Amino acid sequence: MAKHITDAMSDLVNNINVFADYCGFPARRIFDDLFALLYNHICTGKKEYEHLYPAVSYDPRTAQPVDGYRDADRDELVRLFVMLTAELDNAAPFEDVVTDKYGALLQGDLGQFMTPTALSNAVSGFLGAAGERGNKRGEPTCGTGALVMGDLRQTYEVGGKDAVSHVDYSINDLDQRLVRIATVQVMYHSIRHEVPLKRLVVHNADLIKNYGSSPPFFVATSWRGVLPGQVI
Ligand SMILES: C[S@@+](CC[C@H](N)C(=O)[O-])C[C@H]1O[C@@H](n2cnc3c(N)ncnc32)[C@H](O)[C@@H]1O
Repeated sequence: MAKHITDAMSDLVNNINVFADYCGFPARRIFDDLFALLYNHICTGKKEYEHLYPAVSYDPRTAQPVDGYRDADRDELVRLFVMLTAELDNAAPFEDVVTDKYGALLQGDLGQFMTPTALSNAVSGFLGAAGERGNKRGEPTCGTGALVMGDLRQTYEVGGKDAVSHVDYSINDLDQRLVRIATVQVMYHSIRHEVPLKRLVVHNADLIKNYGSSPPFFVATSWRGVLPGQVI
């Protein structure tokens, strides 16, 4: 299964590279735009998953239309979007099928090297085996969410839906494109497999200059987070 997914993601990346040559945009931009479309879909479609997350808020400035493409290129963008969602649909709960491919497109700007998925899974396994982790968790430089996904995957494998439902995650990155991918990864898997976190809070702040002083741009709160005390 894992090999099948990896091959299919390579197909997606190959298709993106071909499209990039054709339309003249960098492949990374096309990848980012596909995730921008998915992010918009999650934000504007919140009614569809309110049984999992009754409270979802987002800064409308972060959910803008994807533009700049010629009309003739839009069909190909839609085809790539369908390919991407098919791959996400085929992945196991919280399996990160994105970071390794995206990492290959990065040039190292802002120290942007994503943790390879095999390593993030190993780190999560090690930390999980080392003892009980708290439910309040944070990843202040999350990139595409490699460590977050590894952590959630481990939490789900060990403790199932109940364990994930207690997790209150804050994630942040200076680069909105990256933290948006991380947001999509967590939310897509959570919705698809009906495994809500207690809460996901997403910031796009500079950790050094203004962390904690800028409001989150996306917050999704499940019933466990909405109902106080010991009700659930
Ligand atoms: C080495 S990458 C690691 C990403 C992720 N934690 C992982 O393990 O795959 C470092 C990340 O920090 C982000 N970053 C760099 N400087 C930052 C700052 N001042 N505030 C917040 N994020 C920052 C970059 O955009 C990049 O995504």
